Amino acid sequence: MRRAAITAVGAYLPERTLTNADLERLVDTTDAWIVERTGIRERRILSRGKGSAYMAIQAAQQALQKRGLPAEAIDLVIVATVTPEHPFPATANIVSHAIGAHRAWGFDVEAACSSFLYALSVAADSIAAGRVQRVLVIGSDKMSSIIDYRDRATCVIFGDAAGAVLLEPTEEEVGVMDYLHQADGAGCAFLHMKAGGSVLPPSVRTVRNRLHFVYQEGRQVFKQAVIQMAEVSAALMRKHNLRPEDIAFFVPHQANRRIIEAAAERLGLPLEKVMLNIDRYGNTTSATLPLCLHDYESQLKKGDNLILTTFGGGFTWGALWLRWAY
Ligand SMILES: CC(C)(COP(=O)(O)OP(=O)(O)OC[C@H]1O[C@@H](n2cnc3c(N)ncnc32)[C@H](O)[C@@H]1OP(=O)(O)O)[C@@H](O)C(=O)NCCC(=O)NCCS
Repeated sequence: MRRAAITAVGAYLPERTLTNADLERLVDTTDAWIVERTGIRERRILSRGKGSAYMAIQAAQQALQKRGLPAEAIDLVIVATVTPEHPFPATANIVSHAIGAHRAWGFDVEAACSSFLYALSVAADSIAAGRVQRVLVIGSDKMSSIIDYRDRATCVIFGDAAGAVLLEPTEEEVGVMDYLHQADGAGCAFLHMKAGGSVLPPSVRTVRNRLHFVYQEGRQVFKQAVIQMAEVSAALMRKHNLRPEDIAFFVPHQANRRIIEAAAERLGLPLEKVMLNIDRYGNTTSATLPLCLHDYESQLKKGDNLILTTFGGGFTWGALWLRWAY
């Protein structure tokens, strides 16, 4: 059976660090509150004049270099992002051109914090169907471009970064094994950006009223994130008779350390099996999952079972069973 395996991982983190102490100077907050309520200590911020394509290009090039492949070998580039370089064309086109993936077609996937997992699923299906051979799936978000640094409830959470995976076909029992995804549009009310789309295009009024930033009702999102990430992961594990002891690593979207701990506990997974890097990067939206794979790459062995899971605006959520291929 033909499957899609991850054969390389790349990442890009902007140099500038925004610490909790820096945020204490911007809004009415404390390092102690942020660490206790979110688990975040610092996050990265991309400089002005650079966008999500810049970070995606660096992450993609690192993945290709690690695999020793030229960009011409790529058939498809999918960029997962909620902060595209421009409203159109797709950031994927800008990235393909810049890295020299001249044979590739491409598009962006936007499903809030679930963008990367959905993009990975679509890419894996394309490979499994025999449509394409090699695909780059890149999660890249410059969250600082849509965060209100006067709103203490959101500005402490988010950061900028990109992560990329290279997918190639395999006949072995590794790669993307299965996934379960769900969405519920009723969740739009709790997490969205009010202006900048077709219903409320940018205007002097929308800018004055600060409507071009992330709007979030944190408690509602928190509750749903714990329940849905745990339930969808449990359903996927049940479907394949995977027990907690069969899982090498749980790879959750990094939105809040307390959400991650609660979801892992519901699944009966100890913290040493949970990939965690939220303390250093915050919530980087589409980049959290590939960044986790990048940071834990040296601890992974061929055949390891990973459960990737996510929850995001929409609401969107899902889980994917991945067998590590190298
Ligand atoms: C946003 C979030 C960190 C807030 O934490 P919380 O424990 O739920 O806090 P609450 O929203 O209940 O607020 C509790 C109090 O802390 C205050 N508070 C919020 N942000 C604060 C900050 N940075 N510093 C200090 N106090 C803050 C609130 O104003 C509130 O004060 P009040 O009781 O006087 O009204 C948390 O709800 C969360 O992580 N939600 C999900 C986020 C998420 O996953 N988003 C992305 C989806 S992928």
